Amino acid sequence: MALNFLHQSKPALARSFLNRLLAPAFECLPRRRSFCAPSARVITVLLAAALTVPVLAAQTIELSVDASKTGARIDRNIFGQFAEHLGHGIYDGIWVGPDSSIPNTRGIRNDVVAALKAIKVPNVRWPGGCFADEYHWRNGVGPLSQRVVTLNPNWGGVIEPNTFGSNQFMDFLDQIGADAYISANIGSGTPREAAEWLEYLTAPQSTTLAKERAADGHPAPYKVRYLGIGNESWDCGGNMTPDYYLSQLKIYSHFVRNFNPSQQDKEQMLKIAVGPGGSEPRWTEWTEAIMKAYQQHTWSWDINGLSLHSYTVVKWPPSYKSEGFGETEYSQILKATLDMESLISKHSAIMDKYDPQKKVALVVDEWGGWYAPLPGSNPGFLVQQNSLRDAVLAALNLNIFARHADRVRMANIAQMINVLQAMIMTDKEKMVLTPTYYVFKMYVPFQDATFVPVTFNAGRYTHAEVTLPRIDAIAARDTTGKLWLELTNLDPNQSTEIQVNLRGISAKSVVGETLTAPKVDSVNSFETPNTVVPKPVAARVQGNMVSLKLDPKSVTVISLEQ
Ligand code: AHR
Repeated sequence: MALNFLHQSKPALARSFLNRLLAPAFECLPRRRSFCAPSARVITVLLAAALTVPVLAAQTIELSVDASKTGARIDRNIFGQFAEHLGHGIYDGIWVGPDSSIPNTRGIRNDVVAALKAIKVPNVRWPGGCFADEYHWRNGVGPLSQRVVTLNPNWGGVIEPNTFGSNQFMDFLDQIGADAYISANIGSGTPREAAEWLEYLTAPQSTTLAKERAADGHPAPYKVRYLGIGNESWDCGGNMTPDYYLSQLKIYSHFVRNFNPSQQDKEQMLKIAVGPGGSEPRWTEWTEAIMKAYQQHTWSWDINGLSLHSYTVVKWPPSYKSEGFGETEYSQILKATLDMESLISKHSAIMDKYDPQKKVALVVDEWGGWYAPLPGSNPGFLVQQNSLRDAVLAALNLNIFARHADRVRMANIAQMINVLQAMIMTDKEKMVLTPTYYVFKMYVPFQDATFVPVTFNAGRYTHAEVTLPRIDAIAARDTTGKLWLELTNLDPNQSTEIQVNLRGISAKSVVGETLTAPKVDSVNSFETPNTVVPKPVAARVQGNMVSLKLDPKSVTVISLEQ
């Protein structure tokens, strides 16, 4: 890993604070000693200030980027989304129905579609989550007025009208330009039910199910690029043991076929097995069991991905507030989110043992900050605010995925709209884009770009008991060869001067954007939607050196013009 964190001791840091404060006084000593020498009282005041007032002077961090050295491709699918039938994630968030006064196309919100198109969503995982293992696809096809009405026992026990079903999901994907990631019900469904669902979706127009799809308005077979075989089958998906799950996995992997003629050779449907939900022994055993079986898989079953779920919560049940918090909660949440690095390393190492050629992707298909429900909201709807802290959290996780791009080839933030760490929040006809949305927008150039190693001493930021790297960074070359750099300043109090030493590439100019806000818990609300939005950043290039200043608590993306 091309990343080193500088671990200075606390006394060393205190000394450097004092040196910076006292430096100007001592500089003038040789020339005008009698005039400049500070009195004992002044020194006392300076010392007291140094110990009590946050130091606001910028620190300088040097980075080195050798663009001639490249790594794995950063799969655009790591910017995937997750949309579950949960709270207002689907109903109101995506689906308002064709008769709504909210502008829509065949029932799907136009404002939401336009916003999602702008972040180039590569894939959407649907219909769950825990919901998936209780979802029966037949309830969601046929005329809208005749849909079977059911309940959603996982999420508030509310009515599930089933008006947003398979055809509506596929229409939505078509409108935003994303691929389908379908989660099959293996908890309360059967292999036959899942096999028929895929036949309905993908068979050419000759089978009875394909004709039914045509009668429902879509004669051409759909493309289903990804199939999840269960969700959290060790918990809400059926409380299975690894052995029991493996026997199910083999059955579903064999019988749930994709018949789309265009997906037989190229663009084959990739099958994703349920993977771990943490780093404890229970989860490493799960990964061991699946990967060991994979090593001996036969022609009749296969997997292409292993899922990993990891939320940033500090401790369950989620109790941290999503707004109205301070630096303590900011630093604790960011510390917790950085555990993603060791989690991925741990499970990747197990996968390497059984799959050294890295054929099976690690798919982080549920991740993000999970906080206490907003006061007054239905606790089963997982409604939370999205703050500048979430923007920093998102950038840190995306950078971890990028550094593991050889194994992590897909990820799905939870969840796309109105639920958990959302991109978008809606309230009837109103829509607001969250700080996390803007991070995804700023990272668009990293989709399918080639990783370029960056070396740097991250420095450190300390608050109370928590010490974090001061900055984080990644670099990549896009498909046209242009170099992009992402720089995150975790320190909420101090800006950081950045000097990037370039090798293997020359640059004439540099442009970029930065995302920051007045407070760590600043949010975009319906009333003030532009509190946390990207702004142009000033950066200079001189010879092979790029310099810029990172604002405190900020996410910055720059590109070099050659
Ligand atoms: O995203 C919310 C829930 O978290 C999902 O339904 C489940 O898979 C996970 O436990």
